[in-house]
Amino acid sequence: MVLHNARMNAQTLTANASGVRPIALVTGASSGIGEALTHCFAQAGHDLVLVARSADKLRTLAAQLKARYQVATLVMPTDLASPEAAQRLANSLQRRNKVPDVLVNCAGVLEQGPFVHMRAANHQAMIDLNISALTAMLSHLLPIMVARGSGRVLNVASIAAFQPVPALATYAASKAYVLSLTESLSEELRDSGVSVTALCPGITATQMLSSATQANQQLNKLPDFLIGKVDDVARQGFEACMAGDAICVPGLINRTAMLASRGTPKWLLRRVGGLLSRATS
Ligand SMILES: NC(=O)c1ccc[n+]([C@@H]2O[C@H](COP(=O)([O-])OP(=O)(O)OC[C@H]3O[C@@H](n4cnc5c(N)ncnc54)[C@H](OP(=O)(O)O)[C@@H]3O)[C@@H](O)[C@H]2O)c1
Repeated sequence: MVLHNARMNAQTLTANASGVRPIALVTGASSGIGEALTHCFAQAGHDLVLVARSADKLRTLAAQLKARYQVATLVMPTDLASPEAAQRLANSLQRRNKVPDVLVNCAGVLEQGPFVHMRAANHQAMIDLNISALTAMLSHLLPIMVARGSGRVLNVASIAAFQPVPALATYAASKAYVLSLTESLSEELRDSGVSVTALCPGITATQMLSSATQANQQLNKLPDFLIGKVDDVARQGFEACMAGDAICVPGLINRTAMLASRGTPKWLLRRVGGLLSRATS
């Protein structure tokens, strides 16, 4: 889905012409879609701030990005689910004069299974990272971007954001929150110089899918054409972010499913979701 914003492209060109490299902060940079996004931004001439818990992976990635794209990197190992983590991160970046031009909220966690079989701590972990940490990152960094009159945000939601998903209830609800928040902000900030984009991938070949498949062998039966390639997903998210699009759904099948879900009565969506979840559990 493309809502092209020509003004944003003009701002990108201005920033590049000034000779100062913009900074992109990517959460969840240590693997999967987040890691692939760091390559997209580095290739496009951004310095990178890398955030996740795995310090070793971030340091290895930083060395790769420096060697391959000659960009500067800052490794900031952080557990974003811990209280005040986003604020500490934002304060530290301000002290170093490294407030990002682009914020990518990609860190996320998925737990699957019947709601009543999951521990309360697992539900809370998804809420803490997928909702609270993402909102905290926005609330600490967006005001600075708006005050500067420029900036871009890419929030990673999911195709699961568009409809209820039994057996992924809390995860899907957390991603519906991300999508709703993003759509509201993209409109609220329309004339601020700051764009906010939701990337809504379908099933993508990352560690998250491997872990889900270990927990539910039925996922092994997914046909290949339903599984997106991480580099393709990241590339489309990067392009949508730089174009200032409100929503990006990578892949024709996912876009078709998203459009179909938007035109289908909610009761029918719930029933279909229930049938699919029972068939795959
Ligand atoms: N794969 C899919 O099918 C799919 C589909 C739709 C949407 N998504 C979304 O895409 C995003 C990226 O997922 P992925 O598929 O790339 O999975 P992934 O490879 O498992 O990556 C998850 C990332 O989040 C980081 N992370 C997890 N807990 C964290 C915490 N407490 N603090 C900071 N960072 C944390 C992980 O790093 P550390 O472990 O080092 O902290 C890792 O870098 C998620 O938001 C996910 O919901 C994925």
